[in-house]
Amino acid sequence: MRSNNFTVVGLQWGDEGKGKIVDALARTTDYVVRFCGGANAGHTVVVDGNRFAMHLIPCGMLHNGVRNVIGNGVAFDPVVATEEIAWLHDQGVVLGPDNLYISSAANVVMPWHKLADSLSEKNLGTSKIGTTARGIGPCYADKARRSTAIRAGDLTEADLLREKVARIAALKNKTLKALYGAKPLDGEAVAAQYIELGRQLAPMICNTGTILRRAIAEGKRILFEGGQGSMLDVDHGTYPFVTSSSVTACGVPTGAGVPPNAVGQVLGLVKAYTSRVGAGPFPTEQDNETGMYLRERGHEYGTTTGRPRRCGWFDAFAVTYAADISGVNELALSLLDVLAGLKEINICTGYRIGDKQLESFDPAVMADASCMYETLPGWDDDITGCRTFDALPDAAKNYVNRIEQLVSRPVGFISVGPDRAQTIRHKTQIQGLD
Ligand code: IMP
Repeated sequence: MRSNNFTVVGLQWGDEGKGKIVDALARTTDYVVRFCGGANAGHTVVVDGNRFAMHLIPCGMLHNGVRNVIGNGVAFDPVVATEEIAWLHDQGVVLGPDNLYISSAANVVMPWHKLADSLSEKNLGTSKIGTTARGIGPCYADKARRSTAIRAGDLTEADLLREKVARIAALKNKTLKALYGAKPLDGEAVAAQYIELGRQLAPMICNTGTILRRAIAEGKRILFEGGQGSMLDVDHGTYPFVTSSSVTACGVPTGAGVPPNAVGQVLGLVKAYTSRVGAGPFPTEQDNETGMYLRERGHEYGTTTGRPRRCGWFDAFAVTYAADISGVNELALSLLDVLAGLKEINICTGYRIGDKQLESFDPAVMADASCMYETLPGWDDDITGCRTFDALPDAAKNYVNRIEQLVSRPVGFISVGPDRAQTIRHKTQIQGLD
């Protein structure tokens, strides 16, 4: 049986513009599901000039009738979630038990996770990972450790939560003091705060896996919304400079509690260039005027942290690797408008180590790799008003076509600006779009 569903994943280091495309596709779906990451993600959607910056709430919430799921694979921060729900409420978007479901099995980000994240980074000095300091890594570490984890379901049971927080806070206070000389957290105050958050969120906390599997059996359409980008995947990315969850399409089944054949068609999001936040290898990085040009034109500053992003050329070798891992059917190319004004545009087609060309991609060697570039002509025209492929200047068409050839996938969508309307539907085969 062919799945009705589809999955959107980033194929670079995150910030590929997933929010906008998920929002555009969400209106054709019944459910939008987050399966990885947490409040480290920053998905921006612009509707009629209004900017919505979401971190934890799935992007389907901007469409009436779409149900939004925070899956078990998410590192769930109830502080951010309640703030985001309240903010959206003020914007006229109402979220409640009818359209937001939070997995009771999602692991909760606690105050000691955030503290450990920033103290660990500080302690690492120049070896730091450059995390978002949202407590993501320590939360997933506790998930794997089990005895020191708190799940969203625990938030709804006040007595159990009080007992767990008292035990875990005592332990964390000892460890954080021994490791970093940290001041102790007040366990009782933490318990009181999280019991109150649990009271507010309880109507939405449930077994989301059961809901999704039932929806699949009923033939409903589900969109799985990836966070971060494949090169930040804990297994397949530029380890250790990665995030701590499975962000490729392979993360969907475990992170949402659905069978692998529910992943459906996979749309791989790529920027027309590359950006990266935080430390780690980035072979096509342009730490020069070109990088600055891309950063300023692309507003390349983190949605979550405000940090300036490192910018560089499109890396077709790395993108093909990421597309292969997720079984990507088609690409969505974002921020093509940003490239306007460059005389020439480079695309990385392969790597060399010394004078030897690599036959296959391996993220472990990226730090030592030098890039093989192909140079294409740029264009000057402002393309933000283009609504069809034919309306693009020849050099831009040529660039898109070359990416398709190098990555061996069709480009389904092209984004030429932040607004919903600034999207060119090109070769998409995703079913159900009119
Ligand atoms: P963490 O996820 O906060 O632990 O950060 C680990 C690495 O992933 C750092 O390099 C972050 O900058 C990066 N990262 C995490 N989430 C995102 C995202 O949504 N976009 C881009 N980079 C991210």
